[in-house]
Amino acid sequence: MENLDWKSLPFGYYRTSYNIRCWYRNGQWGKLEITDSEYISIHIAATALHYGQEVFEGLKAYKGADGKIRLFRWEDNARRMQYSARGVIMAEVPVELFREAVFTAVKLNKEYIPPYGTGATLYIRPLLLGTGAEVGVKPSHEYLFMVFVTPVGPYFKEGIKPVKMFISRDFDRAAPLGTGTFKVGGNYAASLRALMAAKEGGYATAIFLDAKEKKYIDECGPANFFGIKNNTYITPKSGSILNSITNMSLITLAEEMGLKVERRKVPVEELAEFKEAGACGTAAVITPIASIYDPGTNNTYEYCRDGNPGPVTLKLYNKLTGIQFGDEPDNHGWITIVE
Ligand code: PLP
Ligand code: COI
Repeated sequence: MENLDWKSLPFGYYRTSYNIRCWYRNGQWGKLEITDSEYISIHIAATALHYGQEVFEGLKAYKGADGKIRLFRWEDNARRMQYSARGVIMAEVPVELFREAVFTAVKLNKEYIPPYGTGATLYIRPLLLGTGAEVGVKPSHEYLFMVFVTPVGPYFKEGIKPVKMFISRDFDRAAPLGTGTFKVGGNYAASLRALMAAKEGGYATAIFLDAKEKKYIDECGPANFFGIKNNTYITPKSGSILNSITNMSLITLAEEMGLKVERRKVPVEELAEFKEAGACGTAAVITPIASIYDPGTNNTYEYCRDGNPGPVTLKLYNKLTGIQFGDEPDNHGWITIVE
């Protein structure tokens, strides 16, 4: 791994040595299996392939200046995966099994954890598939849980540099009573037309509105939205977005920094009032938003004209990544050291 160019890693797949699997059959979970194969063999009629019984998670391992490996709030990912599984009627992965699989995957691929100071991290991808053969639409009786890891750089290639976004007026991602709040693959399939339209227009990603009224901000592609005004951190409350663990953490940190926090509906017009805006998530970390174009009204909302993140965004970014890499004390029990 010595020759890997950690500093210019993209957010993409890079082969590592091992991944973990565990099967659910006859109503129970089996033993963890370790493999070096990048392939799986599943039934052609597996429910994951036809009817979208698939949920996943995303978390990261961080190498500190002290050489220690840290995981950030892994238990929240474990619980969210259970919540997502319930959302599409799949077998839930027990928290302890999730822990064992994630920690084993990290330990077995230690040499792929990017060195401290490169800004890169080891992305951990737990994945749950319905593998039972069904042709009628019904939940599977058999499941496969997997964890693979891959070293990654920033999701938006600009890193902490502000990016342009646009509002998706032509496509919705999730219905109000649909699956938007679960981390199911189908939501990402539903987002692809908007994403491609965004890329064609030169934008980093698309911002989705609430699908019913088209009045309120939902989220920014694979990340939650926040805006800053009047010393207040404002982030959408919606039944069709993913409850971001990063966002929950920023809410806590913002309060500790003396900001007020509001989690509520965020009308599109309010974009004109924010002094700063950003997207947050495990992959996106905090990505400052330079501007948002709304093709519905032809308005462009600008946040950082000088090409730099705003002061509150930067402070939150430094605090959050400081805790994750172990440069700042972990006062909330968010960090687990991988021994
Ligand atoms: N929203 C969506 C749709 C996502 O896919 C993600 C990534 O997991 C997030 C938000 C951010 O969530 P988290 O901070 O838990 O990674
Ligand atoms: C994450 O932030 O971990 C995500 O899962 C985003 C992703 C879909 C790449």
